[in-house]
Amino acid sequence: MNLKVVTLFANMFSAFINEGVVGRAFQNHLASISFLNPRDYADNAYGQIDDRPYGGGPGMVMQAGPLNQCIEAASKGCSETYYNIYLSPRGRLLEQQVIDELSEKKNILLLCGRYEGVDERLIAHQQMDEISIGDYVLSGGEPAAMVLIDALVRQLPGVLGHTESVGQDSFIAGLLDCPHFTRPECVLGQKVPKVLLSGDHQRIDNWRQAQSLWATKRRRPDLFAKIELSAEQQQLMQRIPEYSVAPEE
Ligand SMILES: C[S@@+](CC[C@H](N)C(=O)[O-])C[C@H]1O[C@@H](n2cnc3c(N)ncnc32)[C@H](O)[C@@H]1O
Repeated sequence: MNLKVVTLFANMFSAFINEGVVGRAFQNHLASISFLNPRDYADNAYGQIDDRPYGGGPGMVMQAGPLNQCIEAASKGCSETYYNIYLSPRGRLLEQQVIDELSEKKNILLLCGRYEGVDERLIAHQQMDEISIGDYVLSGGEPAAMVLIDALVRQLPGVLGHTESVGQDSFIAGLLDCPHFTRPECVLGQKVPKVLLSGDHQRIDNWRQAQSLWATKRRRPDLFAKIELSAEQQQLMQRIPEYSVAPEE
């Protein structure tokens, strides 16, 4: 997957693209990323790319012309077109289903807005997919782009090792993840659930599945309502109670 990010603040990405799972993916060439600065496409010598809003009001608006040139330059010389995304609080919500859809794309361009946002005519002209990371307003699209890139890149083939597979993650099967425990067996006055020490893989799988179902029902009734429970899942919930803290004796 090739990613291009249009941003005034490429430095904000420097740690992000060099560390952890995402950094490893870029180092191992499982994905590529590059940055374009709209100021390089400004119409004037000062690199100005914003102006006051028509109709008045506070703040500045990023201009369509330089952004359009920048986006056009991004796909110049590429045999395949780029799928253009504008990170925007007015966009469709970024959910796992959107990540799955985007993971099919080979080339993705992400436009990070600043100020009051971008001139609406750019969005129409480039037929941009507007994506929001949540119902709140950031000061710029860069953190939103990082959220999207992280969620996308971590599930590209070969990025996560065997021990970090995405298969069990929250939302992958429409359910929240089960609770996790590690050594020691007793900590903070609580014991690890006995079943996880049993070595019986079938029982452990069943327990984990039941806990995923319970967690989803309890924490995200909206998600739970969308699931059609199989007979097996219904039985698991009847048979295996929701996890509750087992105190240390
Ligand atoms: C200060 S915001 C502009 C907010 C805009 N005036 C509004 O109220 O919808 C500047 C930029 O941050 C980014 N941004 C802010 N909140 C976002 C969110 N929830 N999701 C994605 N991008 C966001 C967008 O790129 C936006 O152009």
